[in-house]
Amino acid sequence: MAFLKKKKSAAEEPKVLPQHIGIIMDGNGRWAKKRMLPRSAGHSAGAKVFRTIARYCSDIGIKYLTVYAFSTENWRRPQQEIDALMKLFKEYLNEALRDFQDDSIVVKFIGDKSGFSDEIRALMEETEDGSKDRDGMVLNIAMNYGSRDEIVRAVKKISQGVKKGEIDIDSINEDLVNDNLYTAGQPDPDLIIRPSGEYRISNFMLWQSAYTEFVIMNKLWPDFTKEDLDEAIDIFNNRNRRFGGV
Ligand code: IPE
Ligand code: IPE
Ligand code: MG
Repeated sequence: MAFLKKKKSAAEEPKVLPQHIGIIMDGNGRWAKKRMLPRSAGHSAGAKVFRTIARYCSDIGIKYLTVYAFSTENWRRPQQEIDALMKLFKEYLNEALRDFQDDSIVVKFIGDKSGFSDEIRALMEETEDGSKDRDGMVLNIAMNYGSRDEIVRAVKKISQGVKKGEIDIDSINEDLVNDNLYTAGQPDPDLIIRPSGEYRISNFMLWQSAYTEFVIMNKLWPDFTKEDLDEAIDIFNNRNRRFGGV
């Protein structure tokens, strides 16, 4: 009826873009299994999706994207799978990451690089060096990343500072801990998306996600689309973030 004032729907409200999105790229193995393919085929398919989604995030104006590609615990997998993953990393470091040049994406690797071969480590450093002066989205690729490991590393660095007399114990605060994480200088993730339907964090950004909104999606990562990312951002927009307030 003409007289009825239409209630503004959520869709009409201006959408708030998360500044920092984290994605736990999970479900590659199950995707391959469903197709009777080797797990490595799932990882290849997942890597393609990573490329599409990273570029999409940059296009829509996301400032920071952190993708979980390989955890400190993933070394527990069969050697055959590790070998396939290392081969894939090498291919990607050689080719795909160069693509991001057009998008002015800054690539950073978070995690313990010393776990990788000299060849892979050199490629990682080359990629970081080659992109550090760009001004676009920061893409953190978490490789051999474990948040507990990250926190232990920060504790060691701070302790060394105390031992050398450079840091006063009373000056240790949350900012100092932040400054000693791999993500130093970056905002905390506003939204973490986990495809594949698992309700757990699997050692990802434990410190940084204190007030992050989690969105669990049932799609396996190789099936994840730009529309799924839009949907996660919509869900995020319907959350009421309180940060401990009212
Ligand atoms: C994520 O997919 C990729 C890595 C952990 C390297 P998975 O390989 O964990 O796939 P699922 O969980 O077994 O399906
Ligand atoms: C988390 O997935 C790590 C990555 C996606 C890289 P996992 O497959 O390793 O996690 P769990 O073992 O199911 O907790
Ligand atoms: Mg998994």
